Amino acid sequence: MEDKKILFSAVQPSGILTIGNYLGAIKNWKNLQNDYNSIFSGADLHTLTVKQDPQTLRANSYQLAALFLACGLDPEKSIIFMQSHVPAHAELAWVLNTITYPGELSRMTQFKDKSQKHQENINMGLMDYPVLMAADILLYNTELVPIGADQKQHLELARDLAIRFNGRFGELFKVPEPYFGKTATRVMSLQEPTKKMSKSDANLNSFISMDDDKDTIIRKFKRAVTDSDNKIIFSEDKPGISNLLTIYSAFRGISIKEAEAEFEGKGYGDFKVKVGETVADVIDPIRQEKNRILSDKTYIDAVLKDGAERASRIAYKVLSKVYKKVGLLPRSR
Ligand code: TRP
Repeated sequence: MEDKKILFSAVQPSGILTIGNYLGAIKNWKNLQNDYNSIFSGADLHTLTVKQDPQTLRANSYQLAALFLACGLDPEKSIIFMQSHVPAHAELAWVLNTITYPGELSRMTQFKDKSQKHQENINMGLMDYPVLMAADILLYNTELVPIGADQKQHLELARDLAIRFNGRFGELFKVPEPYFGKTATRVMSLQEPTKKMSKSDANLNSFISMDDDKDTIIRKFKRAVTDSDNKIIFSEDKPGISNLLTIYSAFRGISIKEAEAEFEGKGYGDFKVKVGETVADVIDPIRQEKNRILSDKTYIDAVLKDGAERASRIAYKVLSKVYKKVGLLPRSR
């Protein structure tokens, strides 16, 4: 690989992604892959921490891989692979477990939230989630990790574990930095614009999935909850309109100010349709391309196989250094 900084990120194959996931992650990855040695993973082992139907998980993993490719991640430029295909992730997680304290994990916000939400299935994996994530990152001498704000605490743990390991066993891991991107796009629910847009929302009108077709997208935007003063401006007391302006400007690649200027004097009805059309113009071709790619599983398998091989080469070099540092015997070849 060329002498560029190493960047690692991952998304769980836990179901259809929303435009929030797209704007928050994959859309930016496409550009980042030109500037960094980029490694992108489907975090399938993480997905197991909440109950999965095996067949659905398999389908979702193909969906995610196809979406990566449809969004412009390029297997020639980046390493694209499934986490479970590189066993070094689970192996490093084990070693990192031995330097992690239960208190560090039990106080994680996401663990507490998910324990609330899945009270029938509070398992060790759910608690250990951030350690596996630290392993994902540290295995590649990663310098930059594009993440959403909700993953900040997890990245902090990865940094702590890198520093702790280095302190105890000698310099080895790079201490990774978060990468939040230029504009932090926080996409809210279309029905309750004070809540984050979520694909697990029971109200299907509250989110735009990457699988929605043009008509569905426009219909959902038409139904988006707003207010009644008919002014298209970004303001804290106008969460619905502000959210639509955020979405519109992110999809158009313009500032909120520019978006406001564009709609000055226009009514909510026209505005909503315009936002819907703009989103659909981007999402619809991606969906079609994703479905085209999905029809060729052999191709996806080949991409993932090549990605896993390239990832493994880096990961095992690092893992064998870890094993050596902690005092495990070298394996005879
Ligand atoms: N936990 C991340 C999320 O849900 C996904 C993830 C897994 C990840 N491993 C990672 C992100 C490593 C960045 C780096 O969004």
